[in-house]
Amino acid sequence: MSAVVVVGAQWGDEGKGKVVDLYAPYAELVVRYAGGANAGHTLVVGGEKLILHLIPSGILHEQTNCVVGQGTVIDPAVFLKETEALNVRGLDTRGRLVVSQRAHVVLPHHKLIDELREKRSGGAIGTTKRGIGPCYEDKVARRGVRMGDLLNPERLQSKLAANLECWRPVAEDLGGTLPTAEEITAQYTDLGEALRAYIGDAAAIVRASIQANEKILLEGAQGTMLDIDNGTYPFVTSSNAVAGGACAGAGIGPTHIKSAIGIAKAYTTRVGGGPFPTELEDETGQQLRDAGAEYGSTTGRPRRCGWLDLVALRHAVAVNGLNELAITKLDVLNVLGELKVCVAYELDGERLEYPPYERIEDVTPIYETLDGWDEELAKYRSRADLPAAAQRYLDRIEEEVGCRVGVVSVGPDREDTADLVDPFG
Ligand code: GDP
Ligand code: IMO
Ligand code: MG
Repeated sequence: MSAVVVVGAQWGDEGKGKVVDLYAPYAELVVRYAGGANAGHTLVVGGEKLILHLIPSGILHEQTNCVVGQGTVIDPAVFLKETEALNVRGLDTRGRLVVSQRAHVVLPHHKLIDELREKRSGGAIGTTKRGIGPCYEDKVARRGVRMGDLLNPERLQSKLAANLECWRPVAEDLGGTLPTAEEITAQYTDLGEALRAYIGDAAAIVRASIQANEKILLEGAQGTMLDIDNGTYPFVTSSNAVAGGACAGAGIGPTHIKSAIGIAKAYTTRVGGGPFPTELEDETGQQLRDAGAEYGSTTGRPRRCGWLDLVALRHAVAVNGLNELAITKLDVLNVLGELKVCVAYELDGERLEYPPYERIEDVTPIYETLDGWDEELAKYRSRADLPAAAQRYLDRIEEEVGCRVGVVSVGPDREDTADLVDPFG
């Protein structure tokens, strides 16, 4: 029982990067288990900011090894750029960073199709246009290209030729032109060579780590409400973001998972399309966006902002089997006077404690109003010292969703954290 999952409990961007960076010193290995460069995980140390899209958020801790698991989809150029940026900072990633040879490769036409579909639909889903959907489609259709293939040009070209045939009618319908198998092979063989030192048997590393009784952090991407099975389908990403996805995505058995920690903002944000019951399309929403700097870490898009949705969070506690919550961005709420939290939805006169499987756009949130606090929180290191109204806010979260709050984050920097304890303790 040596693994702890860190999972997004809302619609992504909850602060998973910050929390994984806080927990990493307690772990020997950090494994990213799902998603691709659609993710943007921000670390702030001593005021200096770093955004990671593919590399695990434990990378700044030189004694911690990092693995990008088979459940992810890799854009090799993004991966290379990220390793180079870390090397420029004086951080040596070689020997302590491995990307699974089984992870699927995001190909140029995945990004093209993603973009053309978004254009045709008028941005209905509002994807990140990073090719995530088409890449996972290829994986499930059993015609994908995997990271290991980048090291074998002949195998790569023959897989690409078959793969491109499947996309040709789709591209033609969307008015796009596909690259040739030869062109992609040339470009991706070069990328494969540049990444040779990183592509490896991630499963063997995870297995050895378990056998050595090491502590493993499993880092999720996106969030529960964006999960393909548990989220607001079809306004979701194309992978299993939930804690359960960590087993298949990292190659670890459920019997090794000690606990699952859900990361949630003290309010709610969502970027892209889809239902968002507690959304504030008014001055208050803009205040949250300004105070919380709510602009996407990957695409720079303004994030939609709203009150804390405890119905969605209750669902996250259930489907991830959360043992604990980490609440982030509590400091942002001090810009508001009175605060609201959504404790239930109403649909056709019925009170709902959990999100319905469809028609989420038709629900009316039932709110409870709580006192705010007019005080900067960044200096606090213990929940017990917080203003009484902030403590009450956390208490209400625990009571409503039935899960205890552990870490409370009160600012973007690593230092701005209350009640940090060893997650394996
Ligand atoms: P992730 O995708 O879950 O890792 O989250 P992102 O990095 O996309 O977005 C979270 C944003 O909030 C980043 O800009 C973080 O630096 C910032 N952040 C994290 N925790 C806090 C906090 O407690 N307070 C404030 N003000 N900002 C925070
Ligand atoms: P992190 O890991 C927030 C959203 C997109 C879009 C939907 C589908 O930083 O929390 P996709 O490109 O995955 O096909 O887009 O999912 N989305 C995210 N929103 N944080 C993320 O990742 C996201 N990854 C995808 O905006 O609505
Ligand atoms: Mg993010």
